Amino acid sequence: MSRNTGAVRCFLFQLRCRVPLWVIGRGTILVLRERLTHRGAQRQKAEAAMAAFRSCRDRHAFDTDWFSANIPLWQRLIAEEGLATRPDLACLEIGSWQGLSALYTLTALPRAQLTCVDTWQGADEHQDDRFVCPTILASVEQRFDENLAPFCDRITKVKSTSAAFYAQTPPGPRYDLIYVDGAHHRDDVMADAIHCFDLLKPGGVMIFDDYCWQHYEKPADNPAGAINAFLRRKRTEIALIGYGPQVAIRKT
Ligand SMILES: C[S@@+](CC[C@H](N)C(=O)[O-])C[C@H]1O[C@@H](n2cnc3c(N)ncnc32)[C@H](O)[C@@H]1O
Repeated sequence: MSRNTGAVRCFLFQLRCRVPLWVIGRGTILVLRERLTHRGAQRQKAEAAMAAFRSCRDRHAFDTDWFSANIPLWQRLIAEEGLATRPDLACLEIGSWQGLSALYTLTALPRAQLTCVDTWQGADEHQDDRFVCPTILASVEQRFDENLAPFCDRITKVKSTSAAFYAQTPPGPRYDLIYVDGAHHRDDVMADAIHCFDLLKPGGVMIFDDYCWQHYEKPADNPAGAINAFLRRKRTEIALIGYGPQVAIRKT
């Protein structure tokens, strides 16, 4: 599928998931800006970063890669939001699987401390062996531990549902960067979005994965249904700073 076909399909899907009009407007500007600037030296830099990370990935034990295609967006956000130079950078990830997105965060942000929250039991879609083979699911936590062992002094591993994590975490802003990639049903993504937003510092960045992903039959039951509802609800408290297969906001 070409990039344009994918973008058109995603846009039609978003209309069915009640994307707010202002998000279409701001999102279109972001996409056009990305296409205009993602050329020449910029493009080469992003592709080099992606290739470097993929060779780092290949020196570890990963069975899946649902992350590295997002590196151009993350690289842009890290630069534009000054994440690499923030002191005491605190990051949170809901949904770590075998640790690939965590590995990127820890290598791209050498000052970051990262809290990884996961049940390591997989999400709804991982119970389907056409999607992930059962032997991979059975060893997912062990893979996470092996892959991230060199970073054990910069990681806090929380083995629980995200709901249990919020229940045990004192309320109030404490994180500079939050990645939401846990359970994918609309209700779970909405709960993660609202709780994580409370834990995000003003000026902090939150990134949602799977904006265009369709697993549940009813369009609005997918992550996009929750992400669009969250954007609508928080419109006056956020700036939309990334729009595509992943959506990124800054808390204003
Ligand atoms: C798509 S994977 C994460 C992929 C990872 N971020 C990466 O890029 O490599 C989703 C993860 O969310 C976890 N998960 C599912 N439901 C969860 C819940 N309610 N609370 C915490 N984690 C959950 C699953 O165990 C799975 O490891």
